[in-house]
Amino acid sequence: MKTAILFKKLLGAMFAVALLAGAQAAAAQDAATVASGKVLFTRLCAACHGADRSDQGRAMLPGTDALRIKYKGQLPALLEQRTDLTPDVIRTFVRRGTWSMPPFRKTEISDAGIDAVSAYIADAARTKR
Ligand code: HEC
Repeated sequence: MKTAILFKKLLGAMFAVALLAGAQAAAAQDAATVASGKVLFTRLCAACHGADRSDQGRAMLPGTDALRIKYKGQLPALLEQRTDLTPDVIRTFVRRGTWSMPPFRKTEISDAGIDAVSAYIADAARTKR
């Protein structure tokens, strides 16, 4: 009888440890995805969607400036501050392009790469506000 209870407790503890390990692995994977998304964003998007201000305080960045004009402050001009962009929406814009934003081919950025950029944008919007 006692052994049965002990066995159940042991099973419960093992289950809890397994769950925790799984959660940690998922968090580590998320962090890696966000980090690779940041690298891609910096390489492929930041030239137009970045936050740098140079020319007398004006950004002179086509994406940031266009979105500032488009939303007139209703939504942030910086993609990295947007919480409304779903991965599907980002993928559509990246694959099709819009205005002076060129469409990106799969040889330039893979679907997984776009998902990583989306994960980075979501993470940045959550943590950098
Ligand atoms: C050559 C400049 C340029 C590059 C590079 C660029 N964009 Fe854009 N992007 C723009 C412009 C301009 C717009 C259009 C704004 C408008 O509709 O007035 C835009 C719009 C968008 C939108 C739509 C936002 C909205 O609310 O309408 C998304 C999403 C987006 N870009 C994501 C990206 C991502 C992700 C990358 C990198 C993979 C990227 N862009 C690279 C210039 C660029």
